[in-house]
Amino acid sequence: MRILSGVKPTGRPHIGNYFGAIQQFVDLQNRSEGYYFIADLHALDGIRDAERLHQLSYDVTLDYLAFGLDPEKATIFKQSDVPEVSELQWILGSVTPMGLLQRGHAYKDAQAKDKQIDFGLFAYPVLMAADILLYRPDGVPVGKDQTQHIEFTRDIATKFNQTYCPDFDPQTEEGGVLKLPEGVFLEETAVVPGIDGQKMSKSYGNAIEPFVEDKPLKKTIMKIVTDSTPLEDPKDPDTCNVYALLKLFLDENEQADVREQYRAGGVGYGHFKTLLLDHVHTLFDPMRERRRQLENDPHEVEKILARGAEQARATASEVLGDVKRACGVY
Ligand code: ADP
Ligand code: TRP
Repeated sequence: MRILSGVKPTGRPHIGNYFGAIQQFVDLQNRSEGYYFIADLHALDGIRDAERLHQLSYDVTLDYLAFGLDPEKATIFKQSDVPEVSELQWILGSVTPMGLLQRGHAYKDAQAKDKQIDFGLFAYPVLMAADILLYRPDGVPVGKDQTQHIEFTRDIATKFNQTYCPDFDPQTEEGGVLKLPEGVFLEETAVVPGIDGQKMSKSYGNAIEPFVEDKPLKKTIMKIVTDSTPLEDPKDPDTCNVYALLKLFLDENEQADVREQYRAGGVGYGHFKTLLLDHVHTLFDPMRERRRQLENDPHEVEKILARGAEQARATASEVLGDVKRACGVY
């Protein structure tokens, strides 16, 4: 099994990224051949400051390593270190219908909000398809919000195969140059809520970020929105933002225990917030320590990225070669 996924370097990671994506990467690296990259080309669309983008990409690398990705087990690389991806993007763009891209959620959203739309935003799904197809992965672990991108990737691969591979059979998906990938979604934690109950996201200002200092971490957790049920009254765990986050850290027995405490009443939301904070510390403090160590060893991080790029390019150039032969640009 080959697994591939990427994270855009747009800011500090939050626990939605961790439970929705990164934790799966770390689990999967033991059971499969993993390719994990920092999607800096995708971030160009939003970050227009060279120094900042470079720094953010570096920070995400530290995050990945701190969360437990292991360069001995997986290939960890920066998207822009593999120029083959841009070449494949153009080739795929040549078989991608405008209509498909016009259905893109991000594009439609930007249009609805009257935002300025660049080609990069419009073509984002083509670059993402190139990211994936270049490595012929079996599975792509992502959050649910990426469902459409995976579908588009399959559509674009199908279109290329149908156009250029006479033996391709769309029923069996056999006989094509490009392999159709599957999204790997973790249902239980598919959408992690933020402190306001909406989907946790960097862009909504509602994220809990495990790598910030103790004080702001605590402040954010204490700000989680709850209803005004009095302390002594029974509470409903299923409508509570604190519980929705807390349960990510608990096994079944612990969940039953906390649910019981909610229903019994006599315990305020502050108590459950403190419990959540404790769990955040227990899980993430060792990772925070590892991150601090790596921060002090930039040479080691550069070495890991250089090796990752070399490994990734070996696979990428092979697949790109097949693609170029299939469509005649060789
Ligand atoms: P953000 O929405 O904060 O900008 P990204 O788009 O960078 O996050 O997401 C990076 C990865 O984390 C993706 O695989 C995405 O699906 C996953 N992810 C992001 N937010 C959540 C969330 N609230 N719940 C579950 N997974 C998430
Ligand atoms: N679009 C993804 C996101 O916003 C990031 C990403 C880019 C990605 N290329 C990818 C994820 C390829 C998986 C595979 O989260």
